[in-house]
Amino acid sequence: MSFTHLQLRKLFSKFWQKKGHKLVPPIPLVPKDDPTTLFTGSGMQQLVPYLLGEPHPQGVKLYNIQPCFRSQDVDEVGDNRHTTFFEMTGNWSLGDYFKEEQLEWCWDFFTQELALAKNKLYVTVFSGSKSLPRDSESASIWKKLGVAENHIFYYGADKNWWSRAGIPENMPPGEPGGPDSEVFYEFTQVQHNPEFGSKCHPNCDCGKFLEIGNSVFMQYQKQKDETFKELPKKNVDFGGGLERILAALINNPDMFKIDVLLPIVKYAEDICGEKYKKDEATTRAMRILADHMRSAALIAADGVTPSNKDQGYFLRRLLRKMVRQGKYLGIDHHITTRLFPSIVDIFKSVYPQVEKKQKEIIEMFEMEEEKFRKTLESAHTIVEKIIQKPSNNYALVAFDLFQSTGYPPEIFLEDLKEKNILVDIKKFNSAYKQIFAKHQKVSKKGAEKKFKGGLADTKDQTIKYHTATHLLHQALFDILGDDIRQEGSNITADRLRFDFYSPKIPSQNDIDKLAKIIDVKIKAKIPVSFKIIPKEKALKIGARAFFREKYPALVKIYFIGNYSKEFCGGPHVVNTKEVGKISIFKFEKIGNNLYRIYAK
Ligand code: ALA
Repeated sequence: MSFTHLQLRKLFSKFWQKKGHKLVPPIPLVPKDDPTTLFTGSGMQQLVPYLLGEPHPQGVKLYNIQPCFRSQDVDEVGDNRHTTFFEMTGNWSLGDYFKEEQLEWCWDFFTQELALAKNKLYVTVFSGSKSLPRDSESASIWKKLGVAENHIFYYGADKNWWSRAGIPENMPPGEPGGPDSEVFYEFTQVQHNPEFGSKCHPNCDCGKFLEIGNSVFMQYQKQKDETFKELPKKNVDFGGGLERILAALINNPDMFKIDVLLPIVKYAEDICGEKYKKDEATTRAMRILADHMRSAALIAADGVTPSNKDQGYFLRRLLRKMVRQGKYLGIDHHITTRLFPSIVDIFKSVYPQVEKKQKEIIEMFEMEEEKFRKTLESAHTIVEKIIQKPSNNYALVAFDLFQSTGYPPEIFLEDLKEKNILVDIKKFNSAYKQIFAKHQKVSKKGAEKKFKGGLADTKDQTIKYHTATHLLHQALFDILGDDIRQEGSNITADRLRFDFYSPKIPSQNDIDKLAKIIDVKIKAKIPVSFKIIPKEKALKIGARAFFREKYPALVKIYFIGNYSKEFCGGPHVVNTKEVGKISIFKFEKIGNNLYRIYAK
């Protein structure tokens, strides 16, 4: 059976036009005027003011097909039906028709226009809650339309209530919502999987049933006192996933077989020379590539660039995950460049911006990809070692890994999965969040207490290590040359720790030489002093500055004889002889060209 997305788009538009609906152009994936959300996640998003009563310039009957991105589904991608990007077919009544017409038209569209078999369709209805009535009206309309009693199921608010915030309790004051009635398609060829419960039913997660449409009866608005007020006008907000409807149309429970996803899978097969169905892990990797490629391309076409926050962060995560999955399939370079043409093939007539911006997007993705590959490479040995040791706190392990190498936790999760180490993703994510929050609190406190030089306190020993750190810093330049750069320093009474960047890989011999220089300088009994001078002068005489710090016009420079000059707040010993014996007890690579030295 074949059915194309272009056919479906056409039938859908014609159907609603015939019913007197006007097209509301879809909004971008990244909403322009809605600071409450990073991405457009449903068709109704642009219609909130109108659902609350404002008149819409296009009238009271509307439809469109809205591109959406739901980041919350990112960890689910890989099974037969979850995607982060999807398109939502939608129709709306702004206080015009209500349940009777909506359910009848929805049924006609599925069963007559699309000719889906009636005996494979099931519907669900809101069973009511303590404060909200059961939706018997929808149930009787379905019966009138010929839906058999045993194809009608009742569920509570967790399944049959819709608002952008979810169940009624989670809705903020002012938010509209209401009971909904969904249509499900049954893949009769799929056997129920008892792992998901003894009995199968439309909302069972075993994959036998797929939701293909949701009519929300948007008739309430949450009030400040937690009650619900009926809206002045009763609205309909329908959403049906284009991809899911297509999967029903081709009667294939694997959504990646539809024509807005399959071409990407085919490209992936060609690039790596493996078959999609080779084994479970290959299938999963190709599904992730297909989904993430679509999302990344469309988000980028809307102007997002990879970064560490907001939309850019999600784009970065998608690209990193693609690199990781590509690696699993043996694709070591240019994964986005090689998959991108499939997106242009699929979407050029629907989202022409993808083709127009192709060149600049590919360039941007390529850079991001290569940068991330370097992180993967440099952390490879460390990760391998970590994975060999079983842990009961992988969130903590991943956190430490990220702190020391920049290796992203979600990629570490992929590594565990590949090694068949089972981790509950939800628990992992919440544990990770807690560790992260705790760490931020601690480091904030630490930062408040700390001197500029990275000292934890002003104990005698700490001060001695501080002077030793200056010697170490200069000695690194002596041994490794002018390209080294301080990355951080942390000094306690127990040891000093110094992080630095070096394009040259330091050898054991270099480290030995380093220790020797420090020792010589300590034994040379060099006086330590400081001067307060203009910043320009300090830079001119070659005082070492920490590149991340912004300095005022007048700066304090510490001198260790003629040997070292450094921007520093102090304090220090007055003569190097006070430092005593220093030995380097640990040297490690902590990232791409990044190294850490411990000494005491
Ligand atoms: N707004 C409803 C949904 O997203 C139709 O399911």
